[in-house]
Amino acid sequence: MDSISYFILSLLLSSSFLHSSLPSAFSTEIPHSEREALEIIIGGGGAPSPPANCPPPPPSLSQRLLKARKVLLNFKATIEDPNCFTSNWQKDVSPCNYTGIKCATYPNSKELAVAGLDFNQAGFSGRQGSKLCLSGILENIPELTFFHVNSNNFSGQIPTEIMKFPFFFELDLSNNKLQGYFPMEVLSNSQLLFLDLRFNSLTGPIPPKLFTMDLDVIFINNNKFSSNLPWNFGNTPARYLTFANNKFTGPIPSSIGKASKTLTEVLFLGNQFSGCLPYEIGLLKKATVFDVSSNLLTGPIPESFACLQKIQFLNLAKNKFYGSVPESVCKLPGIRNNGNLTLAGNYFTYVGPECKKLIASKVLDVRQNCIKGLPNQKSPQECYKFLSCVKHCPNEWSLKVVPCEKGYSEYEETASPPTAPVTYESLKPTRHRLM
Ligand SMILES: *[C@@H]1O[C@H](CO)[C@@H](O)[C@H](O)[C@H]1NC(C)=O
Ligand SMILES: *[C@@H]1O[C@H](CO)[C@@H](O)[C@H](O)[C@H]1NC(C)=O
Ligand SMILES: *[C@@H]1O[C@H](CO)[C@@H](O)[C@H](O)[C@H]1NC(C)=O
Repeated sequence: MDSISYFILSLLLSSSFLHSSLPSAFSTEIPHSEREALEIIIGGGGAPSPPANCPPPPPSLSQRLLKARKVLLNFKATIEDPNCFTSNWQKDVSPCNYTGIKCATYPNSKELAVAGLDFNQAGFSGRQGSKLCLSGILENIPELTFFHVNSNNFSGQIPTEIMKFPFFFELDLSNNKLQGYFPMEVLSNSQLLFLDLRFNSLTGPIPPKLFTMDLDVIFINNNKFSSNLPWNFGNTPARYLTFANNKFTGPIPSSIGKASKTLTEVLFLGNQFSGCLPYEIGLLKKATVFDVSSNLLTGPIPESFACLQKIQFLNLAKNKFYGSVPESVCKLPGIRNNGNLTLAGNYFTYVGPECKKLIASKVLDVRQNCIKGLPNQKSPQECYKFLSCVKHCPNEWSLKVVPCEKGYSEYEETASPPTAPVTYESLKPTRHRLM
């Protein structure tokens, strides 16, 4: 599709836009699932439509389009375009017909405007080895609602102007050459829904303000972010969080329980998180994916995990967890029904009959632990060395808390078969399925 409706976009925005200046007709709440559907529609392919047999005379272009075309042609002049992505960007053609440009009717006008740029996988870089900057293009098209530039060679600052655009809501700068600290510019946009900064070289801590924004998706995996996660982490209303493969340290904040109404998939794998798991993780009744593998976490699995009624992919592999694997976790319907429980590479010492059933059906992987009588375990020496000087958790009392009333038995025995997780695809550098 070539054009999208700002009306739809406005609806989309309004749910996150409580103090919105949009007309009241636009203020209907949209549930998250519809947001997602719309994101997929809007993000759809960039192929131009075939030419009509008998084209009508081209209508004269609006001021908005004329201005945007100038910006785009200036941009074209500064880039190396090895894949000829911009070959149909000609000066006598409407920019709405350019590859990668999405037009829509601007609100309260009958004029078309450039509503989005989709340069995913275009492979742009700066002309003759110069830097390809985000400024120069982004801040000059104020009608933009989204900017997708996965797998290009953009670097430099994100222009602050973009965050003041009245309808801007999706920013995908994944797999580029961004360096420096977390781009504070994005924090000033109150209507941003989708932020994808994965596969860049960003460093330093994550600002707490990120978790007060009304974002639905935060993908920041495969950067070099460090420090502890801010204490207010759980204030985020996001459904999908990928923090994988950075250098985060310290504990998983116990505030994570506050995200129980929304948090669906969270990837913490491949960092240096340490300490014990907070029992509040068990409050995440919507969570289908929780992956903290390859960190420095320790302690037992909190009994509260019995309340993860929707969980399908639970991965705690390659940490320093110990104790018995709670039988209640092995009874969780989403796990039993073709889910995936990976506990390999820890120091667990016991599994009960329910867990043994899952091992037999290859749903549960407990290789490289310290469980007597099972194959592929760590050596007795290694187990002894670790278990003889185990550090106890500061929150030990809470590890027995089961915050849902009756535990797993409350829930249906037959969960629906697992749906493919959305977030794992973010661990590849290329374009994301959500987009
Ligand atoms: C854009 O493409 C459409 C259909 O493909 C065509 O009718 C129209 O004339 C083109 N507009 C311009 C300004 O080239
Ligand atoms: C991309 O940018 C880097 C520097 O940021 C440069 O070394 C590299 O050559 C660029 N790639 C291309 C294809 O120009
Ligand atoms: C379970 O997840 C792990 C880790 O992602 C993966 O290596 C393994 O292949 C999965 N097992 C099954 C049966 O899908």
